[in-house]
Amino acid sequence: MPTSWFDRYADDASLPQYRRLYLGLREAIMSGTFSAGERLPSSRTLSRHLGMSRSTVVESLDQLVAEGYVFGRQGSGMFVADLPSSPHRLPERLARGRTTRVRDEIETLSASVSVSAPPLRPFRMNVPDIRLFPLNSWMKISRMVLRDFGAEMLDYPHPNGHVGLRQVLAKHLWVTRGIQVSSDRIMITEGTRHAINLLLPLLVDPGDIIWVEEPGYPGIRQACRLLGVKVVGIPVGSEGIDLEAVTGQLPLPRAVYVTPSHQYPLGMTMTARVRLELLKWAKRHGIYLIEDDYDSEYRYQGHPLASLHSMDSGDTVVYLGTFSKTLAPGLTMGYSILPAPLAEDGERLRRLVGHGTSPFNQAVVHRFIESGQYAKHLHTTRMVYAERQRLFLEMAKVSWPGVSIEESPAGLDVIAWLPEGVDDTEMALQLNRLGIESAPLSSFTVKVPLRPALILGYAAYTEPELAVAVERSSRVFRAI
Ligand SMILES: Cc1ncc(COP(=O)(O)O)c(C=O)c1O
Repeated sequence: MPTSWFDRYADDASLPQYRRLYLGLREAIMSGTFSAGERLPSSRTLSRHLGMSRSTVVESLDQLVAEGYVFGRQGSGMFVADLPSSPHRLPERLARGRTTRVRDEIETLSASVSVSAPPLRPFRMNVPDIRLFPLNSWMKISRMVLRDFGAEMLDYPHPNGHVGLRQVLAKHLWVTRGIQVSSDRIMITEGTRHAINLLLPLLVDPGDIIWVEEPGYPGIRQACRLLGVKVVGIPVGSEGIDLEAVTGQLPLPRAVYVTPSHQYPLGMTMTARVRLELLKWAKRHGIYLIEDDYDSEYRYQGHPLASLHSMDSGDTVVYLGTFSKTLAPGLTMGYSILPAPLAEDGERLRRLVGHGTSPFNQAVVHRFIESGQYAKHLHTTRMVYAERQRLFLEMAKVSWPGVSIEESPAGLDVIAWLPEGVDDTEMALQLNRLGIESAPLSSFTVKVPLRPALILGYAAYTEPELAVAVERSSRVFRAI
């Protein structure tokens, strides 16, 4: 009996014996080696020819029967079922997968997204030093959470997130951000990027317009493109988004995205005047304001500034916060507050699209904040980052004479302004060849031309690491 159809899987040690025979037979049936209605060799014959136990052969045949490839006739053996022939070659269209609007957008957007792959290298921007993560207290708290809650941690979480975590966050946001909101209005998210993609459809419809800061956070533009929302970049002045520059010239948007505490990536703070005007204007026209408060905890002079949300009566500002900078990006955890009239639908939407971030991690973060460890960690990292910024500026001033870098009162990066006429993208490429990361300012803008500059992250690197990277980069900076 020819059994070459068995050869392909015969030696695959990752599969149990019965599965090797089952796959061989299935393939032989689908390729026509056994045709519809044909009687298969008996289990006794197969067992003898293939050197397999009879029970293993029967197990394979049973599986083929269960899936409908084969049927048995009382007393006469096993026969091949009449099956539609399997399409061997997919038509060109299906081989690539069907095109959708989102697939087209992904193709365009991915070309512009710079993927910051590990390992972390200086001067990757906007990242904390995860080596400072307080692993010991995290482990202690994790054990406590498991001891106190055990299997409860394995259940689906509440759609808005762990109740205790939302309660401590409500207190934390009141004390640090001036936000007065009850815990049931807070939603735990998988971070800001996730929150934007999740909540945007509650604020706008495809075809609507959103205004974003220019230069600004690419994540908001990308989310809008995926949703089919039109994005218009609004210039940023020294006080923050410059509405006056466009008043009366553009159709009104349905929402405006801003980073008031620390403009991304230029770093200025939105003044009280601009905040109040923005709020007044948004309320008058029924426009939502999306406040991305991504790194307000890292303020090195004075206290963190009150949020835009704290100036709102509760129906205009969507507040977005994240633990990606203060704890670790790998936690994939953040929090958001929707305007009161949207809160209930927000919870329902959350239920419709998934289950949220791990309840166990949420419970650990809850205890971490409640025990005072979070405040302690913020204090420690704030001191370390402030010192690293000071050292970095000192080194850069000496080694990169043609570059102007100002002290930054907040955040995890600084801007290195380059002389007019220098191509910042080309500079970033040259640095990249030396193993140094940097983000050209031009990559954050679409239309509004700006002076060339590089955004450089300093916070995640120790003094010796910064020194090596500054030294290595000086070849490129000195050449301008
Ligand atoms: C302005 C801004 N918002 C949000 C985020 C992303 O936050 P998350 O990691 O929570 O998605 C970043 C990340 O770098 C950012 O720069």
